[in-house]
Amino acid sequence: MNLRASTKFVAAEGVAFFLPETSFSPALKKSFGTLLPSEMVQEIAIRMKEGDFTGKKNEILQVFSTAKGIKKCLLVGVGDIKNTDESRRSAALAIRSFKKLKVKKMSFVLSDKTKWESILLGAIAGEYEFKIGDTKERVSIDLLTICSPQKITPALLKQEESIAQAVNFTRDLVNLPGGHMSPEDLEKSSRNVAKGKNISIKVLDAKQLLKLKMGGIMGVGQGASIPPRMIVLEYKGSKDAPIALVGKGVCFDSGGYNLKPTKYIEAMYSDMAGAATVLGVFHWLAATQPKTHIIGVLGAVENMISGDAFKPGDIITLGNGQTCEITNTDAEGRLVLADCLHHVVTKYKPAKIIDFATLTGACVAALGYEITGLMTNDASFLKSVSCTAEKCDERVWELPIIPLFREKIKSEVADLQCWTAGVSAGSSMAGAFLENFIQKTPWVHCDIAGTAYHETKGDELSPRGATGAMVRTMCEWLKK
Ligand code: BES
Ligand code: ZN
Ligand code: ZN
Repeated sequence: MNLRASTKFVAAEGVAFFLPETSFSPALKKSFGTLLPSEMVQEIAIRMKEGDFTGKKNEILQVFSTAKGIKKCLLVGVGDIKNTDESRRSAALAIRSFKKLKVKKMSFVLSDKTKWESILLGAIAGEYEFKIGDTKERVSIDLLTICSPQKITPALLKQEESIAQAVNFTRDLVNLPGGHMSPEDLEKSSRNVAKGKNISIKVLDAKQLLKLKMGGIMGVGQGASIPPRMIVLEYKGSKDAPIALVGKGVCFDSGGYNLKPTKYIEAMYSDMAGAATVLGVFHWLAATQPKTHIIGVLGAVENMISGDAFKPGDIITLGNGQTCEITNTDAEGRLVLADCLHHVVTKYKPAKIIDFATLTGACVAALGYEITGLMTNDASFLKSVSCTAEKCDERVWELPIIPLFREKIKSEVADLQCWTAGVSAGSSMAGAFLENFIQKTPWVHCDIAGTAYHETKGDELSPRGATGAMVRTMCEWLKK
């Protein structure tokens, strides 16, 4: 989709007018008369008189014309003009309607107070659909012109566009099933992203991981025929101490010998969403080149069953030398993250760490599918992330790590155990486990188990499947 911005009206095959619920901008209303074919204007007048369109959110009025030029017109309700979420949704609805109508070139006409950034984000997120291969046709949009009285410079347009594209990039990675997105494929995708300016990549293969005694990621990957790897990306846009972004990249989580049952296993190709979130952010870094220094670490691995797989009861040694009793092979994410966190802390000495992981079913039970669970060792750091999330309309909520959980995660036969029977606070227990690997670095852990992938429901902004949760928040947070 090509994007343009114009302060003047630009006619196209499809034109959508975005109208707020309260003050129908009179100028915009009047402008229908001069901008649209007369048969459209007449129909709009009749339909509005009938009360068919009032500007409420989710409202769309379609009007067609047989005259030359503008063929299809939409009146789109943006609801509360100050509500960025409603604005994004209205744009996503408009794009979806135009797609159904097979319109390929369109203009979105905004009033002076409409948040063009939200309209743009909504349009690109709403355009997203996931299709594999060439057999299924993707209806693509050629051109979207944002017509707004506000002056939108090409640089501003590119900023917002890049964020939205990073979200869709992450969605594509997560939506690819295990057979298409193995640890090897994740490495390939990372190498592609690393072609961007100021980005370098180092991949630690199984041999190097063994040498570094990374028994967490190696233990989890022991049963898979595709070996694990740790992918380290560096974006160097400044000389500051880096910010580390760490992602769980379990390309398929069968649960291991604590095998997941039917209904819980099918979507587990999405268990690399944390890694995809980090790659999405690097996609944005490559496109926008901000003055910042970022290290990304992806733990790419499959949790499979075979004669070689790790077993319940095994004791493994993690990268930092601590031993861990495998009380449940399905609690694999924290083992992978432990090694990634230890590696980034010791090798790159980051100023801050944020990790992303589809880590616990308990987080879904506690917070559902719309709220990301956050844990931290630094309250003000968490606050800055949650404030940014709120501005982006991404919901987050802090879950506590208390001394009792730090006690309960200890094992009788090893330093730690990966899962503790009888303690139900699964997300916080995982947090208490991860805390052992960050030394004293300020750290925020994002459990995106519920938010990264929506198995049954989709909406106008995000169809069923991957959502790209937390990518927008991270890009906005890094901008500052
Ligand atoms: N990948 C899962 C967590 C998950 C569950 C992600 C549902 C997305 C949707 C994780 O590896 C896992 O299996 N966690 C277990 C841990 C338990 C065995 C300690 C869980 O939370 O059920
Ligand atoms: Zn698991
Ligand atoms: Zn998992």
